[in-house]
Amino acid sequence: MCGIVGYIGERDIKKFLLEGLKELEYRGYDSAGIAILQEGKLLIFKAVGKLENLIQKAKDLKTEGFGVGIGHTRWATHGKPTELNAHPQMGEFSYVVHNGIIENFKEIKSFLKEKQFLSQTDTEVIVHLFEKNLEELGNPKEAFKRTVKTLKGAYAILLITKADPNSIYFAKKGSPLIVGRDKDEVFFSSSDSPLIGYAKEVYYLEDGEWGVASKGKIEIFEGSKRVEREFKPLTINKELAQKGGYRFFMEKEIYEQSDVIIDTMMGRVKEDRIELEELDKEFLEGVENIKICACGTSYNAGLTGAYLIEKLAKIPANAEIASEFRYKEPVLLNNTLFIVISQSGETADTLEALKMAKSEGLKTLAICNVDNSSIVRLADRTILTRAGIEKGVASTKAFTTQVMVLWMLALYLAQENLKKELKENELKAMTKTPLALKVSTSLHERIKRLSKRYLHGHGFFFIGRDIFYPLALEGALKLKEISYLHAEGYPAGEMKHGPIALADPELFTIALMPKNLLYEKIKSNVEELSARDSTICAISPVEFELADDFIKVNNATHYMLEYYEMAVVMQLLAMEIAIRLGNDVDMPRNLAKSVTVE
Ligand code: M6R
Repeated sequence: MCGIVGYIGERDIKKFLLEGLKELEYRGYDSAGIAILQEGKLLIFKAVGKLENLIQKAKDLKTEGFGVGIGHTRWATHGKPTELNAHPQMGEFSYVVHNGIIENFKEIKSFLKEKQFLSQTDTEVIVHLFEKNLEELGNPKEAFKRTVKTLKGAYAILLITKADPNSIYFAKKGSPLIVGRDKDEVFFSSSDSPLIGYAKEVYYLEDGEWGVASKGKIEIFEGSKRVEREFKPLTINKELAQKGGYRFFMEKEIYEQSDVIIDTMMGRVKEDRIELEELDKEFLEGVENIKICACGTSYNAGLTGAYLIEKLAKIPANAEIASEFRYKEPVLLNNTLFIVISQSGETADTLEALKMAKSEGLKTLAICNVDNSSIVRLADRTILTRAGIEKGVASTKAFTTQVMVLWMLALYLAQENLKKELKENELKAMTKTPLALKVSTSLHERIKRLSKRYLHGHGFFFIGRDIFYPLALEGALKLKEISYLHAEGYPAGEMKHGPIALADPELFTIALMPKNLLYEKIKSNVEELSARDSTICAISPVEFELADDFIKVNNATHYMLEYYEMAVVMQLLAMEIAIRLGNDVDMPRNLAKSVTVE
């Protein structure tokens, strides 16, 4: 969601801050700003819209010599995306950037009646409260400590002040914040990428930690207690996070899937079994059912996982949307293994669901792409998806790797009881997945050509059965996210219970028709739609004469291989439609990469 960067040192601060914000663009934002404190002078630049607007505004600013600076990309929560609401938010002599939500901002605001508020944000209370505390206590560190103590909700905060012009004050609770260093320089960011190539060592701040940093010195506190934390080397390679010749990060990430899935399986898919070093007998002892909780694409992967676990391991499993789960007063049984799935590891609803399960004493497992993320740190066990940094807001490789982890998990849970041939069949199919995910030039070209026929209409139905139903949900989600066309994923057998009323030539049906799973059933569902003149695009290895358009996938021997090929087809179709419509594929409107507010 919002992004944060900060810097203390001698290098060109403006450059570091703006480049850092550029790295965070993929998270989604609607305004941005920086504030720099150098030689006692406070400078601030803010702009609505793309970062380029901020870069233009600050183009004459020269920042040479020692200084401190903070920067922010904002995704509006309280107050519209305007320049006044953009961060840094200012007091009389201090500036703050903040990611998260201050839940008690109204109470704080009424307590600070004498202060003049310029924005509609919850963030602004932080800087005024700090200045009020400073008036009373006379010491910036004490004032910041008291400020942080008053705040309720979620936050990652960086604050600079003329009262201590060589320092940055920071605090973290519920939103990610990293502090990095290299000799005398200190860096801050809400995620790794801006720090790559700058910070040698980093520390991922924990909830409840706050502190103050100055040249060559980082003090971290927990409440009033000073704590020493171990900084670890930052080893991620920046090149991997670049676009590498593709038009969009999303396109690059679609193409990468065939390779990253190998990383996901590495050391886990063995010749005769699945090995998951993250799990053991003791951990799984007493587990009689499985609940999976996630949001968006991760939920679609989770629903696929629930089908696979029941199919292979015969353990009752279900998937729930985290934002629903949180408030429905769920009944949690202590023989349940609670699995959360998240690309970012920071999704607020998923994180809260995990906290609920933990507080009820359930065993918890995270399937996540970001090591050290909040979800990973909280869960009892984690299986990392190893997809690498995903920059496109529309998730692709995170999805296919999540599904792979779930498939491996299902087989892991099943393998003691599964017949040898069945187990071998699954393992063999897994090793063929990289091929199924490979994008061939001819397939991509065909989809590119076809996409021009799907730019209008009054809606899309993506339909499938069994695990192809969650895949249909995912296809529809991809399309609506980046093309802004209305699309729904539906269980094919359910169409006749209502949605078929919409069928006419302007209703586009994308039918997932695998040969290896319920082919005849889905075929008759598609025939019903065809009889009502819906325009049909069938994705299948089997020719289907009633289809208006047909995308042929390979004649695979396992339904999961068909699943993966179809996933790629739908990702490419959504992307090509969005490109033709002139949309920003990597940063679709209204969306954020990481949704750290509920
Ligand atoms: O980081 P998470 O996997 O927890 O994110 C969950 C959703 O916000 C995410 O999958 C979202 O739906 C994507 N934009 C889908 O492409």
